[in-house]
Amino acid sequence: MAFTLGLLRRRCRLWGRKRGLAVLMVAMVGTALAATYLRHLAQQRGVKEQPPCTVTQEQRRGLYLLLAAVSALLTRLSITHFLCFDSLWGAVHESGPLPWDPHAHLCALNEKVSRHEEAELLRAFRRRGLALEYSSAEGQYTIRNSSSALGTFEAPTVRVVLFEEDERVQMLRRVGWRRRLLPPDCDAHPSLQCFPPNLAASPLPIRPFGPLSLPAPREDIDLLKFHYPETWWRPLQPHC
Ligand SMILES: *[C@@H]1O[C@H](CO)[C@@H](O)[C@H](O)[C@H]1NC(C)=O
Repeated sequence: MAFTLGLLRRRCRLWGRKRGLAVLMVAMVGTALAATYLRHLAQQRGVKEQPPCTVTQEQRRGLYLLLAAVSALLTRLSITHFLCFDSLWGAVHESGPLPWDPHAHLCALNEKVSRHEEAELLRAFRRRGLALEYSSAEGQYTIRNSSSALGTFEAPTVRVVLFEEDERVQMLRRVGWRRRLLPPDCDAHPSLQCFPPNLAASPLPIRPFGPLSLPAPREDIDLLKFHYPETWWRPLQPHC
């Protein structure tokens, strides 16, 4: 016990003598940490000005050309379509695409699409230099410009997501075999991505989307609430 106390006292004396040095060291370490933190803050500001997932002007131009062509063709084919998902979010908050998104989303009514033969659709798109690819699992077309040069950047695409009305619940639900076997319980199966048909009832309003004017759902915020029930009220964060 006495031994321990003695040791402690000696340590304290030692500490007393070295206190000046210790304080100096703490101050130096503190300064270094503060400098590092300030550099980190500055870097963060830099990152915000130049986000990692930027979209080049060329990609933007390509997307607008593609969207204009797709929307014009869908209109010609009398296929009801409108901005949805992230593109609707962009239209509401930015009057255009989300700044980090090189692609666009449209939703369309399958009832109008299925009036056309698959081959007829393919031909119509191909004639305009557009490549059309259908995913029967997801119930979605992916459309690209077939002649756009393969640069270092991802070529823009327009995804057209198909919905059809389920008579039993009177809601539009996403088509595609992946969801076909699910019972039409919109609340139990969020992946059905249901929304009420009146939101897609013609005539649809037209919204600015960058330099374009595109059809939008009747109540755009209402559709956002159906698409993103948990997060519609706050700004969307980049996925990249
Ligand atoms: C496809 O790309 C070519 C070359 O970049 C461009 O001239 C043309 O306008 C584009 N067409 C569409 C529909 O995007």
